[in-house]
Amino acid sequence: MAGRIPQYFIDDLLARVNIIDVVDGRVDKLKRAGKNYSGLCPFHKEKSPSFSVSPDKQFYYCFGCGAGGNAIGFLMEYDRLDFPTAVEELARLVGLEVPRENSTPQQAQREKHLKDLYGILDEAARFYEEQLLRHPQRQRAIDYLKNRGLTGQVAKAFGIGFAPPGWDNLMQALGGDSQRLEGLEQAGMLIHNEERHSHYDRFRERIMFPIRDMRGRVIAFGGRVLNDEKPKYLNSPETETFHKSRELYGLYEARQANSQLKRLLIVEGYMDVVGLAQYGIRYAVATLGTATTAQHLERLFKLVPEVVFCFDGDAAGRKAATRALETTLPVIRDGQEARFLFLPEGEDPDSLVRREGSDAFSARLDEALPLSEFFFRSLTEDADLNSLAGKASVANDALALVRSMQPGLLQQMMLERISELTGLSQSQINSVNNLQEITQPAAPSRESAPPPPAPPRAFRDTPDAAPAPAKSKKRKRNLNLYEIAISGILHFPRDAASLPRADEFEGLPDQHQSRLLARLVRYFQETPDSSLGTLVVDWLDDVQLQELFLVLNEIAYESDLESPEELRKNFHGAIQRLLHEHRPEHELKSLRSKSLQTMTADEKQRLIELSRYRH
Ligand code: UTP
Ligand code: MN
Repeated sequence: MAGRIPQYFIDDLLARVNIIDVVDGRVDKLKRAGKNYSGLCPFHKEKSPSFSVSPDKQFYYCFGCGAGGNAIGFLMEYDRLDFPTAVEELARLVGLEVPRENSTPQQAQREKHLKDLYGILDEAARFYEEQLLRHPQRQRAIDYLKNRGLTGQVAKAFGIGFAPPGWDNLMQALGGDSQRLEGLEQAGMLIHNEERHSHYDRFRERIMFPIRDMRGRVIAFGGRVLNDEKPKYLNSPETETFHKSRELYGLYEARQANSQLKRLLIVEGYMDVVGLAQYGIRYAVATLGTATTAQHLERLFKLVPEVVFCFDGDAAGRKAATRALETTLPVIRDGQEARFLFLPEGEDPDSLVRREGSDAFSARLDEALPLSEFFFRSLTEDADLNSLAGKASVANDALALVRSMQPGLLQQMMLERISELTGLSQSQINSVNNLQEITQPAAPSRESAPPPPAPPRAFRDTPDAAPAPAKSKKRKRNLNLYEIAISGILHFPRDAASLPRADEFEGLPDQHQSRLLARLVRYFQETPDSSLGTLVVDWLDDVQLQELFLVLNEIAYESDLESPEELRKNFHGAIQRLLHEHRPEHELKSLRSKSLQTMTADEKQRLIELSRYRH
């Protein structure tokens, strides 16, 4: 097994890789905007670009969803890779070999220990297979498998074997010194009898199903009795090689049988996987006596865009389906599909495919309920959608679940559907359950360089898009002219071209805000295709970015309440007033043109001030 990837290599790799090459092809409508590139963010659904990449900084950032990081982070997020795999992937792109640091003695020891365990499990699998072919009592096992309709070919593909009757067949065949016995025990194959200081075989007189990991290594076994004894199935315990909540029976075999997997079917049992394979449906996997976990789904969605759950048609099956739904919602992303197939009562996939054949079974698969369909069906089953209370309760239940989803099109669609079903408007739903949280972006990537804080919600939409209609509970405060102007230029960056030169905005009375405004105007005048996203990557290490975010936080809620036309009008109005009324010389001129009789005390005071230092 591999050791750590040295830091110098990661630095070197990042220096050689151009993030643009990585992002290109994975981001729609990627095009140059000044020094940077912008495009449609691949991590959330959007119609106009809020995703930016800076070749200088080798950094990407999306002001729509807050995702940001370097090339490694992008690959991790986009291809859902772990860190070492993303590094391997990038290294391949530039033709580098990934070096590994020498491991410590402890690491080396652990690697050897694991290697021993895998070795033992592999030997055990071969032993059981061998027994199915040679053991004097093998006939019962063969008859059993034949009875269940399995051919030798499928049995071989799954490495099915036979643990003969007796307490020590495996121990006799594979045992050795005490260290070896301990290894067999740690691999889950032997059980230690403390009182007698002895070991015995865990699996006896059973059909053996080896469980393999994604790389095809045997990591555990399931064993089925040949009759009606209990327990029907016995599984390996959790060991260093076997973690039930992560592994899926049949996944390796499914990948072996299909070069291009498009969908995976999640069933309950070993025999369902094998039985379906016998009928040519070679893409079923089974959880191992547990419910489907998020880890299972993450793994499957890395491999295929579509997962179909199979459930019994009875009450237990529906309950399991509800649980699967709740596990799937937080995991599924746009572009992925989960569907729910309910089998007739009393059938499992194995029995059904044998009874009606693979075509009929495949037809059922094609008609499995899409996740959203199942979601709304089960949600509204016993609901009273005629009463306000009933509607509110549906909205409440639904929102709790939809809130757990990744932000995106699917989530949006489900929200709309809730609104449709309950007749509650999105803003009513909002006040029922503070929906705002739902529209918050996903957590930024786990990359090392922390991305800047996400800008306030009003700016997550596209610059020219209508601001979110949601009403804010935040106090209303009148914005000052600078704030209106800053808000405006961020909403309408393309208007910068028609504004006076940026210098004109320097030296207005509020030094801080006028400097920020001037810089924004300059930025958008110099790089007309820029957006708030490119600005964020450009200003990444800049204190003014933090200042900007502070201002944005203040003004976001206010501009929410206005229409785009209003916003734009106020923006240009504010610019005019800043430049004309607030420039000291303009102010002076206009004050001087007034007659002293009509001036207020404040105006007189101001006139004296301005005259004193303006000569
Ligand atoms: P089922 O009882 O539905 O079995 O268990 P099945 O797959 O239809 O089995 P056959 O057709 O009678 O051979 C489904 C799964 O639950 C776990 C196993 O993983 C099994 O495949 N299970 C079941 C156990 O772990 N132990 C048991 O005693 C029973
Ligand atoms: Mn069955």
